[in-house]
Amino acid sequence: MRRCIPVLFAVCLLFLGVSLCPASGKRARDAICPGASWRDTDGHLIQAHGGCILKRGNEYYLFGEDRSRRNQPTRRYVGCYRSTDLVHWHYCGEVVSLKNPDPKLFTNDWILERPKVLYNRYTHQYVMYAHIDGRGYSIARVAVFVSRTVAGHYHYLRNFRPLGHQSRDIGIYQGRHGKAYLLFEDRPTGFRIAELSRNYLRVKRNICLIHQHLEGLGLVHYHGLYYVLGSHLTGWGPNPDVYATAKSLHGPWSAFRNIAPARTNTYDSQSGYLLKIVGTHRTAVIYMGDRWNPGQLWNTRYIWMPLQIGNGRLWLPKPRCWRIDVHTGVLSYPRPAK
Ligand code: DGJ
Repeated sequence: MRRCIPVLFAVCLLFLGVSLCPASGKRARDAICPGASWRDTDGHLIQAHGGCILKRGNEYYLFGEDRSRRNQPTRRYVGCYRSTDLVHWHYCGEVVSLKNPDPKLFTNDWILERPKVLYNRYTHQYVMYAHIDGRGYSIARVAVFVSRTVAGHYHYLRNFRPLGHQSRDIGIYQGRHGKAYLLFEDRPTGFRIAELSRNYLRVKRNICLIHQHLEGLGLVHYHGLYYVLGSHLTGWGPNPDVYATAKSLHGPWSAFRNIAPARTNTYDSQSGYLLKIVGTHRTAVIYMGDRWNPGQLWNTRYIWMPLQIGNGRLWLPKPRCWRIDVHTGVLSYPRPAK
């Protein structure tokens, strides 16, 4: 009987664990539900805020700020997850776990935000850019990391101001022919689109300076037009995100318009990335935003929604549960689990 007690105890724990499993966990099994708590395949809250997605083969890799409560206060972390359907995410580990890399420049409360990852076809390296900064976001630089494997350790290379300009929130865009671009908020003037060098390790030249003070930048090319998206500068608080279009990255860019009814403040979220999925039947563009929770950044929620896009218009529909057949690009909207 003595031997049975631990077994009985374990069975009870298992039963309790299953029955207490949050409803959001159940829902997350078959759909993306914007704003719900979202757990990885081990049951932990997904930590990939202000992030991006990179596709390699049939797999999608999600990178973002890991704001876990267990983080060491002296380090900054980037988490990485892998999925084949965008719903179920397997945790690959911390691909960045960095101590202050430049103590002469950054104080102990330094920040590393909005990591963006690209694959370079010439060097066969994965290159990560991130916003690196100090107290009060006054230093305004980017950090560059490299890795030989997509979900491996990203080695810190250096930090700098792109083309000598201030750079806070960043975005990334990879065009055809392997060219890649850094988008960055340049506080005195607006934001810039700048071309990266062939190996992606340097920022080579300015492509366009857009006189709009925007952050949380995303860019996509869709049916012959570029769509650029960003939020106004209101800290962690949401505001009405806006977009503009152009035939060339050099511009001219159209006037900026809201992506959702202004009163919703982008459904309480801030833009961060635009994911394009080219399927056999249709092409979908997904808005990836964060519903920041500044008091508990680890509990920041994800607002991911397929956009209505085309003919120079972009619109974020009211968030609801959805899923995508990543092969065909076809979207469906299942009813949320009770
Ligand atoms: C807005 C930025 O978009 C976020 O990444 C973060 O830096 C907050 N500001 C901090 O206030």
